[in-house]
Amino acid sequence: MKTKFPINAFRDISTPFFYYDLDLLNTILSEVQQQARQLGYQLHYALKANINDPVLISIRKKGFGADCVSGNEILKAVETGFDPKSIVFAGVGKSDDEIRIGLQHHIHSFNCESLQELEVINHLAGGMNTQAAVSLRLNPNIDAHTHRYITTGIEENKFGINLWELNQVLEKINSFNNLTLIGLHFHIGSQILDQSVFKGLCLRINEIQQWFEERKIRINHINVGGGLGVNYSDPDGNLPDFNTYFNIFKQFLELRPGQQLHFEPGRALVAQSGSLISRVLYIKEGIKTRFAILDAGMTELIRPALYQAVHKIQNLTSSGLPLTYDVVGPICESSDCFGKAVILPQTQRGDLIAIRSTGAYGEVMSSSYNLRTKAKAYYSKDLLNHE
Ligand code: LLP
Repeated sequence: MKTKFPINAFRDISTPFFYYDLDLLNTILSEVQQQARQLGYQLHYALKANINDPVLISIRKKGFGADCVSGNEILKAVETGFDPKSIVFAGVGKSDDEIRIGLQHHIHSFNCESLQELEVINHLAGGMNTQAAVSLRLNPNIDAHTHRYITTGIEENKFGINLWELNQVLEKINSFNNLTLIGLHFHIGSQILDQSVFKGLCLRINEIQQWFEERKIRINHINVGGGLGVNYSDPDGNLPDFNTYFNIFKQFLELRPGQQLHFEPGRALVAQSGSLISRVLYIKEGIKTRFAILDAGMTELIRPALYQAVHKIQNLTSSGLPLTYDVVGPICESSDCFGKAVILPQTQRGDLIAIRSTGAYGEVMSSSYNLRTKAKAYYSKDLLNHE
């Protein structure tokens, strides 16, 4: 399904701004949810990818739960109608206030990342005279073969409880009267395109399950996190391959009777429905390089500067002959570059440029560096009618 850009409406809007194709989003959501329901899988949308109300409401209406990583994300999920019983709460550094927010809302699970965190949650739950449902986020020591900044499941990472710490954790957990152990949680990284790593994760979980079984510890929920990647070079091509993804878990993960399998997709649901729309301010001829200088920069989309991420760049308003440009932003940093040697139709001041696949980790990671104004968001349902 191809995103249709309402270019006439765009001409009247001040740039840069984010544009969201909610029809595409809803198509992806329906398909994913339908596949998950057939297999009996529970989906919790990772709010960190995009927290705009229309996006969250579309996701909630399709029956997704929420995966939160801060107290504010829990409050946002509740405010946009997600059932608190569908909320899972991860993060290596949950503050006391954030834990209290989770306890007040009786969320489905605190995904705990250290022994000390379990101690603190137990203490705070006791103080509030309540029980906390917890899952252990285990570090399975599996390499996700993705960018090192978004790899989370190998031993050197700060995330999760290491397998060699498990004995000690389980000894202690029995003495924590205000905690109920309900599950195991894993998340090995993000933008994973080599799906064989998920098979590796399944096999590791099978071993871990055996370990728990030998100790007669019952686990009701297995949560395998998120991480499925998207095709940044062809945003109008195939949708993320949830079919292969789910089937790997169906085939290789040995669930015990009554066990529920949970996922926390973020990027794969929302990335392709967002674009950053910008105007060309200047064309600058260097000695060897021709620069297209945009009014959007790393303040709106930091992924290329931070992860050397590649996003497809399209000129929406020119049909000139192809030329090569370095497409850069206005921020006072050399890393403020969206793409080097990008081939675009001949481009001039005033042209509208779409930087694609920015629906995930785009707007949420924007900043006000250089005292920039926050870019607004516009939605297909509001603009397409004006075309
Ligand atoms: N669950 C946990 C525990 C996570 O840490 C994450 C992402 C997700 C689920 C969702 O993963 P996804 O399905 O979106 O891959 N800012 C980076 C991505 C950071 C992801 C952090 N954790 C980027 O722009 O690529």
